Amino acid sequence: MTAALSTPTTLLEFDPTEFAREFGQRPFRVRHHLADHPLFQLDRILQLAQFLPEDRVEYNAGDLSVNMDPAQTPRNGLSAQETIRRIAECRSWLVLKNVEQDPEYGDLLNRCLAVVEQQGHPDAQRIDLREAFLFVSSPGSITPYHIDPEWNFLLQIRGTKFIYVFPSDRSILSEEELERFFSGAHRNLVFKEEYQQQARLFELTPGEGVHVPVTAPHWVKNGDEVSISFSITFQTRVSERRGIIYRVNHALRQRGWKPTPVGNSGWRDELKYFGYRVVRRLRRFWSR
Ligand SMILES: [Fe+2]
Repeated sequence: MTAALSTPTTLLEFDPTEFAREFGQRPFRVRHHLADHPLFQLDRILQLAQFLPEDRVEYNAGDLSVNMDPAQTPRNGLSAQETIRRIAECRSWLVLKNVEQDPEYGDLLNRCLAVVEQQGHPDAQRIDLREAFLFVSSPGSITPYHIDPEWNFLLQIRGTKFIYVFPSDRSILSEEELERFFSGAHRNLVFKEEYQQQARLFELTPGEGVHVPVTAPHWVKNGDEVSISFSITFQTRVSERRGIIYRVNHALRQRGWKPTPVGNSGWRDELKYFGYRVVRRLRRFWSR
């Protein structure tokens, strides 16, 4: 698959042709050199969990179903630190959010994203919201079917992960679902068995990763060992603008309109984006 990779001394390796063709549209494999990095040793991750604010640490029982109502997600009865220490046997799933708040992880995120920017793709320039997430999960854990609002590279550090990525098209993801998501609804979606045939499976082992485009639905299952994954994400004006237009469409639909789907009309999209920003500025001005 990968013909001409960039310099192997960089943290991430891409096939430049594939990156140019697929970024933001379809998932594709990447390679990385982070698997032995000291920031991903369990002791260092424990230190990170203690450093982060409590609301940046999310964890629950890991033996969930693909189709999971977020309100019903079971807890595991342990503290976050205990969950990490006992991750091999406590059948749990834990995510540390915004790990870039720790300067060492922040520096690593920036160095990874510099390689992404170097690819020169027009949608991956002027990165303005950089976030990184660290997933620690027990053997066999499942991350239910969901979408995310950012460009994402999921990098496997330890163990094996099977990630099923679905196309972000209207055959399995409705305009209304996207509108609700960008207006604050939970990331988990309702999964239907018939969707599964549209999935692309990526089996990730340490040193491998996958690009997941914005709002491409996916669900994940761990292999038979503890899994550690590092997710580097970012937003640009392109992704921010798209989210805003969905938010405007949600507001219009709630008022009884049938808004034109995002991407179907350039001038309507621009009008909604412009209108949203004007209203936001006026609100800020009046609230002073
Ligand atoms: Fe995700």
